[in-house]
Amino acid sequence: MSDSIAIVPAQSKAISSSASADSTPLKIAVLVSGNGSNLQILIDAMQAGSLPIELVGVISNVKEAYAITRAEQAGIDTAILSHITEGENMGKRMGIKTFERHALTQLKEWQPDLIVLAGFMRVLSADFIDATPAPIINLHPSLLPKYKGLDTHQRVLQSADTYHGCSVHVVTAELDAGQVLTQAMLAVYKDESADNLKVRVQNLEHQILPWTILLIACGVLDIKSLNTAHVSANYMPKLPLKLWLDS
Ligand code: GRF
Repeated sequence: MSDSIAIVPAQSKAISSSASADSTPLKIAVLVSGNGSNLQILIDAMQAGSLPIELVGVISNVKEAYAITRAEQAGIDTAILSHITEGENMGKRMGIKTFERHALTQLKEWQPDLIVLAGFMRVLSADFIDATPAPIINLHPSLLPKYKGLDTHQRVLQSADTYHGCSVHVVTAELDAGQVLTQAMLAVYKDESADNLKVRVQNLEHQILPWTILLIACGVLDIKSLNTAHVSANYMPKLPLKLWLDS
Protein backbone atom coordinates (compact mmCIF):
# COMPACT_ATOMS: atom_id res chain seq x y z
CA MET A 1 0.00 0.00 0.00
CA SER A 2 1.33 3.48 -0.85
CA ASP A 3 2.70 5.67 1.94
CA SER A 4 0.01 8.24 1.17
CA ILE A 5 -2.61 5.86 2.51
CA ALA A 6 -3.31 5.45 6.18
CA ILE A 7 -6.00 3.20 7.52
CA VAL A 8 -6.56 4.08 11.15
CA PRO A 9 -8.70 1.70 13.19
CA ALA A 10 -10.65 3.48 15.90
CA GLN A 11 -9.54 2.96 19.48
CA SER A 12 -13.06 2.09 20.41
CA LYS A 13 -15.81 1.11 18.04
CA ALA A 14 -18.20 3.80 16.91
CA ILE A 15 -20.94 4.38 19.41
CA SER A 16 -24.11 2.80 18.16
CA SER A 17 -27.28 4.84 18.01
CA SER A 18 -29.95 4.43 20.64
CA ALA A 19 -32.42 3.22 18.03
CA SER A 20 -34.92 0.86 19.55
CA ALA A 21 -33.78 -2.72 20.03
CA ASP A 22 -35.95 -4.03 17.21
CA SER A 23 -34.52 -1.62 14.58
CA THR A 24 -30.96 -1.91 13.36
CA PRO A 25 -29.19 1.44 12.84
CA LEU A 26 -28.40 2.41 9.27
CA LYS A 27 -24.65 1.85 8.76
CA ILE A 28 -23.14 4.90 7.08
CA ALA A 29 -19.69 5.59 5.59
CA VAL A 30 -18.86 9.24 4.90
CA LEU A 31 -16.43 10.60 2.29
CA VAL A 32 -14.95 14.02 3.05
CA SER A 33 -12.29 16.47 1.88
CA GLY A 34 -12.47 19.39 4.30
CA ASN A 35 -13.89 20.90 7.46
CA GLY A 36 -16.51 18.24 8.11
CA SER A 37 -19.21 20.41 9.69
CA ASN A 38 -21.84 18.17 8.08
CA LEU A 39 -20.06 15.07 9.37
CA GLN A 40 -20.14 16.64 12.84
CA ILE A 41 -23.90 17.04 12.63
CA LEU A 42 -24.18 13.30 11.94
CA ILE A 43 -21.75 12.43 14.74
CA ASP A 44 -23.72 14.57 17.20
CA ALA A 45 -27.04 13.07 16.08
CA MET A 46 -25.68 9.52 16.37
CA GLN A 47 -24.25 10.16 19.82
CA ALA A 48 -27.46 11.83 20.99
CA GLY A 49 -29.50 8.91 19.65
CA SER A 50 -31.58 11.32 17.57
CA LEU A 51 -30.81 9.51 14.30
CA PRO A 52 -30.93 5.70 13.96
CA ILE A 53 -27.47 5.52 12.36
CA GLU A 54 -24.03 4.04 12.99
CA LEU A 55 -21.11 5.85 11.37
CA VAL A 56 -18.89 2.93 10.39
CA GLY A 57 -16.07 4.92 8.84
CA VAL A 58 -14.85 8.14 7.27
CA ILE A 59 -12.62 8.36 4.17
CA SER A 60 -10.76 11.54 3.30
CA ASN A 61 -8.74 12.33 0.19
CA VAL A 62 -7.08 15.22 2.08
CA LYS A 63 -4.63 14.32 4.86
CA GLU A 64 -5.16 17.54 6.82
CA ALA A 65 -8.95 17.57 6.57
CA TYR A 66 -10.41 18.63 9.93
CA ALA A 67 -13.20 16.13 9.28
CA ILE A 68 -10.70 13.37 10.10
CA THR A 69 -9.99 14.92 13.51
CA ARG A 70 -13.73 15.08 14.17
CA ALA A 71 -14.08 11.37 13.28
CA GLU A 72 -11.11 10.34 15.41
CA GLN A 73 -12.44 12.30 18.38
CA ALA A 74 -15.70 10.38 18.03
CA GLY A 75 -13.90 7.02 17.87
CA ILE A 76 -14.91 6.35 14.26
CA ASP A 77 -12.63 4.40 11.89
CA THR A 78 -10.85 6.62 9.37
CA ALA A 79 -8.98 6.06 6.12
CA ILE A 80 -6.81 8.78 4.60
CA LEU A 81 -6.33 8.21 0.88
CA SER A 82 -4.39 11.38 0.22
CA HIS A 83 -4.47 12.76 -3.29
CA ILE A 84 -0.94 14.13 -2.78
CA THR A 85 1.68 11.44 -2.21
CA GLU A 86 4.69 11.67 0.10
CA GLY A 87 8.08 9.93 0.25
CA GLU A 88 9.86 9.17 -3.02
CA ASN A 89 6.79 10.13 -5.08
CA MET A 90 6.48 13.42 -3.17
CA GLY A 91 3.86 15.72 -4.59
CA LYS A 92 2.67 13.27 -7.24
CA ARG A 93 -1.09 13.22 -7.52
CA MET A 94 -2.85 9.95 -6.75
CA GLY A 95 -4.97 9.09 -9.74
CA ILE A 96 -8.69 8.72 -9.18
CA LYS A 97 -8.50 5.03 -10.15
CA THR A 98 -5.97 4.35 -7.39
CA PHE A 99 -8.07 6.29 -4.89
CA GLU A 100 -11.16 4.36 -5.92
CA ARG A 101 -9.42 0.98 -5.67
CA HIS A 102 -8.35 1.64 -2.07
CA ALA A 103 -11.66 3.28 -1.15
CA LEU A 104 -13.57 0.28 -2.50
CA THR A 105 -11.49 -2.15 -0.44
CA GLN A 106 -12.16 -0.07 2.65
CA LEU A 107 -15.89 0.27 1.98
CA LYS A 108 -16.23 -3.48 1.43
CA GLU A 109 -14.63 -4.02 4.83
CA TRP A 110 -16.98 -1.55 6.54
CA GLN A 111 -20.09 -2.84 4.69
CA PRO A 112 -22.18 0.36 4.99
CA ASP A 113 -25.86 0.48 4.05
CA LEU A 114 -25.37 4.01 2.72
CA ILE A 115 -22.40 6.11 1.56
CA VAL A 116 -22.62 9.87 2.10
CA LEU A 117 -20.47 12.41 0.24
CA ALA A 118 -20.30 15.38 2.62
CA GLY A 119 -17.94 17.97 1.16
CA PHE A 120 -16.06 15.33 -0.86
CA MET A 121 -14.32 17.15 -3.71
CA ARG A 122 -13.35 14.47 -6.22
CA VAL A 123 -15.46 13.22 -9.11
CA LEU A 124 -16.09 9.47 -8.88
CA SER A 125 -16.16 7.14 -11.87
CA ALA A 126 -19.12 5.09 -13.07
CA ASP A 127 -17.20 1.87 -12.35
CA PHE A 128 -16.68 2.89 -8.73
CA ILE A 129 -20.29 3.96 -8.27
CA ASP A 130 -21.46 0.62 -9.68
CA ALA A 131 -19.07 -1.37 -7.50
CA THR A 132 -19.71 0.19 -4.07
CA PRO A 133 -21.52 -2.01 -1.55
CA ALA A 134 -24.22 0.66 -0.94
CA PRO A 135 -25.96 3.55 -2.70
CA ILE A 136 -24.21 6.92 -2.57
CA ILE A 137 -25.83 10.29 -1.82
CA ASN A 138 -24.24 13.72 -2.14
CA LEU A 139 -24.90 17.08 -0.53
CA HIS A 140 -24.71 19.87 -3.10
CA PRO A 141 -24.91 23.63 -2.37
CA SER A 142 -27.53 24.62 -4.95
CA LEU A 143 -31.10 23.90 -5.94
CA LEU A 144 -30.31 21.24 -8.55
CA PRO A 145 -30.57 21.00 -11.50
CA LYS A 146 -29.44 24.63 -11.29
CA TYR A 147 -25.76 25.31 -10.65
CA LYS A 148 -24.09 21.94 -10.94
CA GLY A 149 -20.35 21.98 -10.16
CA LEU A 150 -18.34 24.58 -8.22
CA ASP A 151 -18.75 28.22 -7.06
CA THR A 152 -22.50 27.89 -6.73
CA HIS A 153 -22.99 30.86 -4.37
CA GLN A 154 -21.10 33.31 -6.59
CA ARG A 155 -23.00 32.10 -9.64
CA VAL A 156 -26.34 32.59 -7.89
CA LEU A 157 -25.38 36.14 -6.90
CA GLN A 158 -24.41 36.92 -10.50
CA SER A 159 -27.81 35.71 -11.65
CA ALA A 160 -31.23 37.23 -11.12
CA ASP A 161 -32.27 34.32 -8.88
CA THR A 162 -34.11 35.30 -5.73
CA TYR A 163 -33.99 31.79 -4.23
CA HIS A 164 -31.07 29.50 -3.44
CA GLY A 165 -30.42 26.49 -1.25
CA CYS A 166 -29.02 22.99 -1.22
CA SER A 167 -29.90 19.53 -2.46
CA VAL A 168 -29.28 15.95 -1.44
CA HIS A 169 -29.18 13.71 -4.49
CA VAL A 170 -28.33 10.16 -5.49
CA VAL A 171 -24.84 9.94 -7.00
CA THR A 172 -24.64 8.64 -10.56
CA ALA A 173 -21.87 8.78 -13.16
CA GLU A 174 -23.04 12.17 -14.40
CA LEU A 175 -21.86 15.01 -12.11
CA ASP A 176 -24.60 16.35 -9.76
CA ALA A 177 -27.28 14.83 -12.01
CA GLY A 178 -28.74 11.88 -10.05
CA GLN A 179 -32.26 11.85 -8.62
CA VAL A 180 -32.70 14.79 -6.24
CA LEU A 181 -34.18 13.47 -3.00
CA THR A 182 -34.57 16.61 -0.89
CA GLN A 183 -33.97 20.36 -1.11
CA ALA A 184 -33.91 23.21 1.40
CA MET A 185 -34.47 26.76 0.15
CA LEU A 186 -33.91 30.32 1.31
CA ALA A 187 -34.40 33.80 -0.13
CA VAL A 188 -31.27 35.55 -1.43
CA TYR A 189 -30.80 38.95 0.25
CA LYS A 190 -30.23 42.02 -1.86
CA ASP A 191 -26.51 42.95 -1.88
CA GLU A 192 -25.58 39.80 0.04
CA SER A 193 -21.94 38.58 -0.14
CA ALA A 194 -21.03 35.09 -1.34
CA ASP A 195 -19.54 34.34 2.08
CA ASN A 196 -22.74 35.30 3.85
CA LEU A 197 -24.82 33.24 1.46
CA LYS A 198 -22.50 30.26 1.96
CA VAL A 199 -22.93 30.43 5.74
CA ARG A 200 -26.72 30.61 5.41
CA VAL A 201 -26.80 27.69 2.94
CA GLN A 202 -24.53 25.63 5.21
CA ASN A 203 -27.04 26.20 7.98
CA LEU A 204 -29.63 24.60 5.69
CA GLU A 205 -27.25 21.74 4.85
CA HIS A 206 -26.95 20.94 8.54
CA GLN A 207 -30.72 20.42 8.62
CA ILE A 208 -31.40 18.81 5.25
CA LEU A 209 -28.70 16.11 5.52
CA PRO A 210 -29.88 14.54 8.80
CA TRP A 211 -33.51 14.96 7.72
CA THR A 212 -32.81 13.08 4.48
CA ILE A 213 -30.90 10.34 6.27
CA LEU A 214 -33.77 9.97 8.75
CA LEU A 215 -36.19 9.52 5.82
CA ILE A 216 -33.90 6.86 4.34
CA ALA A 217 -33.31 5.11 7.68
CA CYS A 218 -37.05 4.98 8.36
CA GLY A 219 -37.77 3.65 4.86
CA VAL A 220 -39.75 6.71 3.72
CA LEU A 221 -37.19 7.31 0.98
CA ASP A 222 -36.23 4.14 -0.86
CA ILE A 223 -32.92 4.46 -2.68
CA LYS A 224 -31.91 0.79 -2.95
CA SER A 225 -32.22 1.10 -6.67
CA LEU A 226 -30.46 4.27 -7.81
CA ASN A 227 -32.62 4.68 -10.86
CA THR A 228 -35.94 4.28 -9.12
CA ALA A 229 -35.49 6.33 -5.95
CA HIS A 230 -38.95 7.08 -4.67
CA VAL A 231 -41.00 7.84 -1.60
CA SER A 232 -42.41 4.63 -0.23
CA ALA A 233 -45.92 5.86 0.63
CA ASN A 234 -48.23 6.80 -2.23
CA TYR A 235 -49.74 9.78 -0.37
CA MET A 236 -46.31 11.46 -0.15
CA PRO A 237 -45.44 14.31 -2.52
CA LYS A 238 -43.20 13.54 -5.51
CA LEU A 239 -39.42 13.91 -5.24
CA PRO A 240 -37.64 16.08 -4.42
CA LEU A 241 -39.14 16.73 -0.99
CA LYS A 242 -38.67 20.44 -0.28
CA LEU A 243 -38.15 22.35 2.94
CA TRP A 244 -38.55 26.11 3.06
CA LEU A 245 -36.07 27.15 5.73
CA ASP A 246 -35.63 30.86 5.37
CA SER A 247 -33.24 32.23 7.96
C1 GRF B 1 -20.66 22.00 1.90
O1 GRF B 1 -20.93 23.34 1.70
C2 GRF B 1 -21.23 21.16 0.78
O2 GRF B 1 -22.34 21.69 0.19
C3 GRF B 1 -20.10 21.14 -0.21
O3 GRF B 1 -18.94 21.11 0.59
C4 GRF B 1 -19.21 21.74 1.83
C5 GRF B 1 -18.74 20.84 2.92
O4 GRF B 1 -18.74 21.45 4.17
N1 GRF B 1 -20.25 20.03 -1.11
P1 GRF B 1 -18.26 20.64 5.44
O5 GRF B 1 -16.92 20.01 5.10
O6 GRF B 1 -19.29 19.61 5.75
O7 GRF B 1 -18.13 21.67 6.54
